Amino acid sequence: MKKSARLYRPHNHFSVAGGLVAFGLVATALYVLIATYAAGASYGSEPELATLSDPSMSISDPAASGGKAIQFKAAATGPDPTAPSTILLGAAVEPNQLDDPAFTAALTQYKFDSLTAENAMKFGQIEPNRGQFNWEGADKIVNYAVANNMRVRGHTLVWHRDVPGWVNDLSSAEAATVLENHIKQVVTRYKGKIAQWDVVNEALDEDGSLRDTVWLQKLGEGYIAQAFRWANEADPTAELYYNEYGTESTDLDGDGSYSRAAKANAQYELMRNLLNEGVPIKGVGLQTHSAGYYPGRGADILTEMKRLGDLGLEIEITELDVINLGDAEKVERYAELGRTCKDSGVCTGVTTWGLYDGHTWRGTEAAPLLLDTNFNAKPSYDALMTALGRP
Ligand code: XIL
Repeated sequence: MKKSARLYRPHNHFSVAGGLVAFGLVATALYVLIATYAAGASYGSEPELATLSDPSMSISDPAASGGKAIQFKAAATGPDPTAPSTILLGAAVEPNQLDDPAFTAALTQYKFDSLTAENAMKFGQIEPNRGQFNWEGADKIVNYAVANNMRVRGHTLVWHRDVPGWVNDLSSAEAATVLENHIKQVVTRYKGKIAQWDVVNEALDEDGSLRDTVWLQKLGEGYIAQAFRWANEADPTAELYYNEYGTESTDLDGDGSYSRAAKANAQYELMRNLLNEGVPIKGVGLQTHSAGYYPGRGADILTEMKRLGDLGLEIEITELDVINLGDAEKVERYAELGRTCKDSGVCTGVTTWGLYDGHTWRGTEAAPLLLDTNFNAKPSYDALMTALGRP
């Protein structure tokens, strides 16, 4: 059971059985550790970290540790496969879609419990003119979500696209002021209502270098760390994410060549460096816009999720859709990606980029989503939900 369980998750249960299992593991770990110390074994100057399912739990035994607190990290048991799944199912939506009763009925019927604004929270939509904020669309999505007990992923505060023209004319100093103000205004408005923000989106180029954006040009390399800190100041409880495409695996072609590893490796280094600097970053959003077996097979995406998870980060699949496969292959692909999320133990949600095939940036003919043009579930829907442990 993940420690990030939150009230907005309608599917969260802490089962008694799970609690007993966790207690048993903790007791065993403590017993082994104490017995090891009693036997005179030494871990050297850096005591090895044992593990508990909740990393915030620790014990302090100055006698045994030479004055140092011993911190227990999580036991290598992984998630309990029998526990109810807490992985959220999300969809990207446009505000006006929420006026369509067929659309909202489908959200309910198919148990979507997270919403992302497909466009309504992007810079150019929310602050089309300097200091003039247009909240209408974003408010509509947030209000709907709150009324229906759904989580909201905020998307996105800093991106190289959808930047209004007036930003280009700013001096470096003005651009920093503008970005800080933008981030703080937006995050503050939805404080406590938007649980998770894509603070920075797509900051990396395909070769792993920082993308040459207006923000990099005007604020310099520190803009990413700055953005996270500004967002955290505005809402310390929001989970702050870095969101990216083409970093889902080190074998994006899925052909076993591992020839396209640069971007995933760069993202990993970026995350490690930001965490080392104490930047408040909670997780990585893997967009997972899929075409054929791009961006990689499940096993390689699992490896990527796990190494990011080992840094202490959580993962969300944030913009899933699947094109360029036959109908049966699409079903299997959705299952593969759902299993990957579940098996990683660090993946907390799967959001599709749109609810139904009637509205998708991929084009209706591509039929990339979980519901058809009439809002009926396709076989991919059951396949994904089963894979997530939410049959
Ligand atoms: C897309 C929207 O779906 C389109 O409607 C819009 O015209 C362009 O942006 N990565 C992202 C999303 O992070 O914000 C993009 O959304 C798709 C790619």
